[in-house]
Amino acid sequence: MSIHRIQTEPIDGQKPGTSGLRKKTRIFMGPHYLENFIQAIFDGIGGAQGKTFVLGGDGRYFNDRAAQVMLRMAAANGAKKVIVGQNAILSTPAASNLIRLRQTDGGVILSASHNPGGPDEDFGVKFNTPNGGPAPEGVTAKIYEATKTIREYSILDAQDVDLSTVGTTKLGEMEVEVVDPVADYQALMEKLFDFDKIRDLFASGFRIRFDAMHAVTGPYASAILEGALGAPSGSVVNAVPSPDFGGGHPDPNPIWAKDLVDRMMADDAPDFGAASDGDGDRNMILGKGVYVTPSDSLAVLAAQARLAPAYKDGLKGVARSMPTSRAVDRVAASLGIDCYETPTGWKFFGNLLDAGRATICGEESAGTGSDHVREKDGLWAVLFWLNILAETRKSVAELMADHWRNFGRNYYSRHDYEAVDATAAEGLMQALREKLAELPGTTHAGRTVEAADEFAYDDPVDGSRSEGQGVRVSFEGGGRIVFRLSGTGTEGATLRVYLEDVEEDPARMDAETDTALAPMIAAANELAGISERTGRSGPDVRT
Ligand code: G1P
Ligand code: ZN
Repeated sequence: MSIHRIQTEPIDGQKPGTSGLRKKTRIFMGPHYLENFIQAIFDGIGGAQGKTFVLGGDGRYFNDRAAQVMLRMAAANGAKKVIVGQNAILSTPAASNLIRLRQTDGGVILSASHNPGGPDEDFGVKFNTPNGGPAPEGVTAKIYEATKTIREYSILDAQDVDLSTVGTTKLGEMEVEVVDPVADYQALMEKLFDFDKIRDLFASGFRIRFDAMHAVTGPYASAILEGALGAPSGSVVNAVPSPDFGGGHPDPNPIWAKDLVDRMMADDAPDFGAASDGDGDRNMILGKGVYVTPSDSLAVLAAQARLAPAYKDGLKGVARSMPTSRAVDRVAASLGIDCYETPTGWKFFGNLLDAGRATICGEESAGTGSDHVREKDGLWAVLFWLNILAETRKSVAELMADHWRNFGRNYYSRHDYEAVDATAAEGLMQALREKLAELPGTTHAGRTVEAADEFAYDDPVDGSRSEGQGVRVSFEGGGRIVFRLSGTGTEGATLRVYLEDVEEDPARMDAETDTALAPMIAAANELAGISERTGRSGPDVRT
């Protein structure tokens, strides 16, 4: 087996976004594209010599091929060892756990998360640092720099490694350890939650429907929910991961998981419904007849955390991404703990978790997690909810009603305008920026603006500053609109409009979300001229 040094040229646009480098699969399959980026990762972190990495992915189209390339390149770059999930499969939280558990020098995750998979869909590669979390901006900047100066990459000339069998083999001088993707993750969940209590809940006739959306959580959910916890067989549906996610969009929200939502709204609905995304880090939570927004889920988990063994001593603090509703802020205030507001993207939670400033974190985009790993974790959120339901023996609807009565209700919705002309989207944001200073005191759709700014974050742990993280407009009475452009899209620009309004009168906590948010929706249009600038009469997706 010989090491080849392949001449290459920098390729434009290999800039990691909100969550790694995400592009159309065919772009990744193009000449040198993947290889350049993998080499840039190694170069950006000071080389791979003598290092140990974790490798896995969500099983989407090209996952298997990309894994073999990464292995051959790691070997050629002098890595000591790669720990890889069987068949190159690892959910994102399971990869994060393995990186931490085995104290590796980081890991490469092959995933485009909730984006669809297939030759004409999306692929992605991200690097996680030794703490198990997504590379922070300082690291992704170095990787990006390396993509701009690359002249050659190293790759071993070798046959494919057999990744179908658990065990250790060699690739050149490098060790390749193939591990069961589920075992270590399951052991961690058993430590965090009261599995006996949850088993009792299922034994009492409690019914769950978990939709794995043909994606990576299938094997995890089957082993844990049906295997270890005794949920009736068939509780986990769409459990076999497929390279194109069954032709669907593995995004657990009311649009893409409509089948689950419909079943949960039916008369004979199970007690609990949940879904996860392509790589297993997102979650959607439903009860019989009720959809729990991710922002509310975060708030409920924070409020009830002590019911789970892992959090019985209370939380050090909580953190949410800026556009996430401020429901959790109210919980934090009542618990007397800190609540951090960070830019969008899980990487911004890493320092807070590492420094012990926050225990639970969440994003409105169906991401919730804690300091047990350094990624958001879909199945963790499901088990946390089950633990709470097992302890309280209340229904999800009852828990939500109690929560809103105690803390008030933050009505919340996100409107996405997808594949908008990039120049038009930039223009919209720029026009908003230019009028921020004049907004306070003005009235829109009958509501008065209290404050308006463009969000910038000063990391309290390492002092780094992240600017341009979205425009936020707050109204008197607790309403808020946030505008930002997506950092994960692969086509044009995606405008995200985040709408929130607070209701403290228990008599008005059962409204339809769109009705409750009508003034904010109208104000958003008025402020940003969304229809005129994008040419769209309404959002493509409302979550
Ligand atoms: C989106 C979500 C964000 C999440 C990210 C990765 O990023 O909004 O909360 O962390 O996906 O899953 P965006 O496309 O908005 O940049
Ligand atoms: Zn994901």
